[in-house]
Amino acid sequence: MRRYHVTTFGCQMNVHDSERIKGMLEGAGLGEAPDRDAADVLVFNTCTIREKADDRLVQHLHDARGRKERDPDLQVVVAGCWAESQREAIFREFPWVDAAVGPGRIGSLADAMRAEGDERGAFGSFDDFAADLPRRRERDFQAWLQLSMGCNSVCSYCIVPSVRGRERSRHPREVLAEARQLAAEGVTEIMLLGQNVNSYGRDLSPDERCTFAEMLRAVDAIDGISRIRFMSPHPKDMRGDVIAAMAESDAVCNQLHLPLQSGSTRVLKRMRRTYDQGRYLDLVARLRDAMPDIALTTDVIVGFPGESDADFEDTLDVYEQVGFDHAFTFIYSPRRGTEAAAFEDQVADEVKHERLERLVDVVQRHAAARNAALVGTTQEVLSEGPSRTDPGVFRGKTRGNKTALFTPAAPAGSVVSMVVEESTSQTLRGRILSPVVA
Ligand code: SAH
Ligand code: SF4
Ligand code: F3S
Repeated sequence: MRRYHVTTFGCQMNVHDSERIKGMLEGAGLGEAPDRDAADVLVFNTCTIREKADDRLVQHLHDARGRKERDPDLQVVVAGCWAESQREAIFREFPWVDAAVGPGRIGSLADAMRAEGDERGAFGSFDDFAADLPRRRERDFQAWLQLSMGCNSVCSYCIVPSVRGRERSRHPREVLAEARQLAAEGVTEIMLLGQNVNSYGRDLSPDERCTFAEMLRAVDAIDGISRIRFMSPHPKDMRGDVIAAMAESDAVCNQLHLPLQSGSTRVLKRMRRTYDQGRYLDLVARLRDAMPDIALTTDVIVGFPGESDADFEDTLDVYEQVGFDHAFTFIYSPRRGTEAAAFEDQVADEVKHERLERLVDVVQRHAAARNAALVGTTQEVLSEGPSRTDPGVFRGKTRGNKTALFTPAAPAGSVVSMVVEESTSQTLRGRILSPVVA
């Protein structure tokens, strides 16, 4: 039997797409190899969000070429956002690539692998939902559930709309049928996915319309689903109905990833984020009113074109005011074809790095303080089994999405109560009181 290995880069969308890729390859009769070296088919499911992602991938492709020179039967397959962005050049510049599919064409992967010439590439056409393909889930008790594909926003720094297409919402009947099926299979935690998950449903026809808030409530009502999370919401679409649905649905976790990008109104405007500093802070206040213990995480970009010292101070200031639980911090990376890449006031690299360092210090300080404040509390933890580094210690996630390390053992998938005894900026450590659900 030929064996495949999938390497996944990028965001949750790609992680989820990789489950579909694995499901398809297994449907085509392939087995999974334990690592790249043992595989006959190397699949790279790629990301192109920042230049670094591109560089890393090109390195992997060169390594694959080296292997293929020794083993001509090796197949090299490239899927995902980078493949889509290179659709014109990929077979010319990387002639050892055997097949390539964009994120809208995962369903064509097996055909592309059997094809010759141009047929080896399948791009564009974002009509098919990868969600309808077979899948291979990594964990029995957790699942991704795709609500929509693509993005209708026009953030001036972002390449995603050009590689994932316009936003298309999945029919609510299909989404809920999948959610019920997952619950029947024993899934207890669902992560709802979309590039802009809370604008879900706006493109559906009036007779089938379902808002994101209604979808949250409908998934909450499914027996067996005890944890619901979602990614990524856009602040502009975080309206009162969504906040109320979060607060009133028992299964929706007390956690939200709410990308800030910048704290400067001037920069936000040039980013085309469509909210300003005041609206973001007001939104946080309303979320905390409705859910006082909500854990907030965010994304921040430093060094966006034209970002002055004063703009960056605004970002630090908003960060201090909100006191996020954690953040992903990025140095602005110009992306081909995006509006901001053509702005003339690009920020010098050393300024970008200096700002990132300052921001990371603030992020770490707040992360440590937010976690320290949980010492002494009892948290519900969903066990993910033994920790990778120390099999005597178990790991899991709290409802607030914090990594929890605990003893004694509790099998993966079980829910336990943990008293938090120690914390760092990354983890909570504690002791299990009693299993809540075996
Ligand atoms: N759709 C999601 C995620 C988009 S990509 C959302 O809107 O939240 C994830 C993060 O990458 C973004 O939130 C942004 O902070 C960052 N990012 C996107 N484009 C970038 C670029 N050109 N340079 C640096 N960071 C970028
Ligand atoms: Fe990119 Fe903005 Fe869409 Fe997010 S909302 S994927 S940052 S264009
Ligand atoms: Fe990357 Fe595509 Fe996700 S560019 S961040 S894998 S949508």
